[in-house]
Amino acid sequence: MHRRSFIVMAGTALAFPGGRAHATVPTKMTVYRDPNCGCCHEWAKAMGSAGYSVDVHDTDDLAAVKARLAVPPGMEGCHTAVVEEYYLEGHVPLEAVERLLERPHIRGLAVPGMPPGSLGMGDDGKAAYDVYAIPSGAGAPYVFMEVRPRKG
Ligand code: CU
Ligand code: CU
Repeated sequence: MHRRSFIVMAGTALAFPGGRAHATVPTKMTVYRDPNCGCCHEWAKAMGSAGYSVDVHDTDDLAAVKARLAVPPGMEGCHTAVVEEYYLEGHVPLEAVERLLERPHIRGLAVPGMPPGSLGMGDDGKAAYDVYAIPSGAGAPYVFMEVRPRKG
């Protein structure tokens, strides 16, 4: 069992519904990953365990996938996934994916780099990193969710 990191919501006072009931038809997710990278595999596995219907595509040209989806420079993580009309770049946590499926008007979410302790990178509750949203329009990426270590 993994311990969840303490989540600080950025922006408005949106609260988590505390565990969304899974739909009868699982949400489809396509994960593009480097077959030689273990953390991509772990992240995809975690999405599968969370109830997403994960379709994994191995590729040795992830840069082409990121370019096609227009992931902004500086936002690149490891693997890239597509869920519904959004992309997920890097080690995006489950809580952020759930919030994404509430349909904000953005293009996708990104966790740049590979923060230690993030989902697929240990998932150890001590992680500290920000999840960025990439807006649909011209604007710059902004902090969508702050993941901070659980205290005590
Ligand atoms: Cu990886
Ligand atoms: Cu990674």
